[in-house]
Amino acid sequence: MTLQRDDYTAASRDAWNVSAQHHRDGEDWTKLTDGFARPGFSCLDGVETALMQDLDVVGLDVAQICCNNGRELISVRNMGAARCVGFDQSDAFLEQGRELAALAGQDVEFVCSDVYKIGPEFDGAFDLVLITIGVFGWMPDLKTFMELPARLLKPGGRLVIHEEHPIINMFDPEHERPFEPVLDYFRPEPLKEQGAIVYDGTPNETEATHWWFFHTLSDVMTAALAAGLALERFDEHPNNISGV
Ligand SMILES: C[S@@+](CC[C@H](N)C(=O)[O-])C[C@H]1O[C@@H](n2cnc3c(N)ncnc32)[C@H](O)[C@@H]1O
Repeated sequence: MTLQRDDYTAASRDAWNVSAQHHRDGEDWTKLTDGFARPGFSCLDGVETALMQDLDVVGLDVAQICCNNGRELISVRNMGAARCVGFDQSDAFLEQGRELAALAGQDVEFVCSDVYKIGPEFDGAFDLVLITIGVFGWMPDLKTFMELPARLLKPGGRLVIHEEHPIINMFDPEHERPFEPVLDYFRPEPLKEQGAIVYDGTPNETEATHWWFFHTLSDVMTAALAAGLALERFDEHPNNISGV
């Protein structure tokens, strides 16, 4: 049977939902709950922080697509953003996002939806749309996905992508030589993976099948341009944001 877009996204949703408890049990969750209990806390790294300052997020309406537990969006809200809306299809992670926002005392909206099914009610509502760390690989259809930020933005609004460099797809951290490129950068079919999704790659017994799609840098740029977005700035950084 050939899997369709909805099959991949449903598998991703179920895998993220069964992974949520692993994240809650980890030390990163404690860091987030301790952090957001302090006024003005931010989990953003130096690159993201500088970018948000350059864009002067104070007073901007911000959306984050695939926001997971909302840690980045709540940080942006703590920096002075106005309306903040996070979209994700994992209700278990959005529940964590609501908890973190409550700890921070911040009003952040979380919308549970498959990104491919978000209706027109949010079109043209945001000055800034964020896509960060570990999103493109979940997307079976990058071209349609990129139409979403284009729709969500107000005229003149900006999309910020802070993503892993796709070259990282060539490396397998569980391989005996983890620094050797063992996978094809241009791999056409998705990689089938098993188990809960944990950022440090620790093997686990949780039953969950999910797929990771290889999109090259030119795939990403072409999809963004095809959606009507213009390229204003493109930076590469030496730090590893993948968590592996
Ligand atoms: C790696 S996480 C994002 C992590 C986040 N940037 C951070 O650093 O905290 C990827 C997220 O994409 C979401 N996702 C994947 N496919 C999706 C889809 N089709 N619709 C909505 N959310 C999706 C997952 O539920 C997951 O929360």
